[in-house]
Amino acid sequence: MKKIYMILLVLILVFVLAACASNDSPAPAPAPDPAPADSDADDANGDEDLIFLTLEELAQFDGRGDNLAYVAIDGIIYDVTNVPQWRSGSHQGNMAGQDLTDVINNRAPHGTRVLGNLPVVGRLVD
Ligand code: HEM
Repeated sequence: MKKIYMILLVLILVFVLAACASNDSPAPAPAPDPAPADSDADDANGDEDLIFLTLEELAQFDGRGDNLAYVAIDGIIYDVTNVPQWRSGSHQGNMAGQDLTDVINNRAPHGTRVLGNLPVVGRLVD
């Protein structure tokens, strides 16, 4: 009789231990989707939204009529559409839609300090 009790006790212990072991390692939570279709995760470096324009293409962004006003400085394209001083794409005799690197470096009284406030929209390419 004592033997049966011992066997039962061992069996119960085995079951209890097995149950504990399975609770120690619950099924892992599903990994987050690395690239959901509508995620902005790829935009972390900001490059996703940049546009690449040749000088010829940039010319369309002259700020006239409904056109946006873009200016390229040192290969970076800035949006001056909403800058009051660039109304209608014109500023101190300069027109938007152009590479004005030389102008801002050598003729503008403010130099490149004004660029820090402008949205960067793209890069100038060959
Ligand atoms: C002959 C060339 C230029 C002259 C004489 C000129 C002159 C001026 C003057 C007098 C102002 C207002 C005062 C100031 O903010 O310092 C101004 C503002 C400004 N200029 Fe020019 N500028 C020239 C070229 C450029 C170019 C090439 C850019 C290119 C993006 C530029 C961008 C701006 C901006 C964004 C402002 C507004 C500044 C702000 O309020 O943050 N300018 N400029």
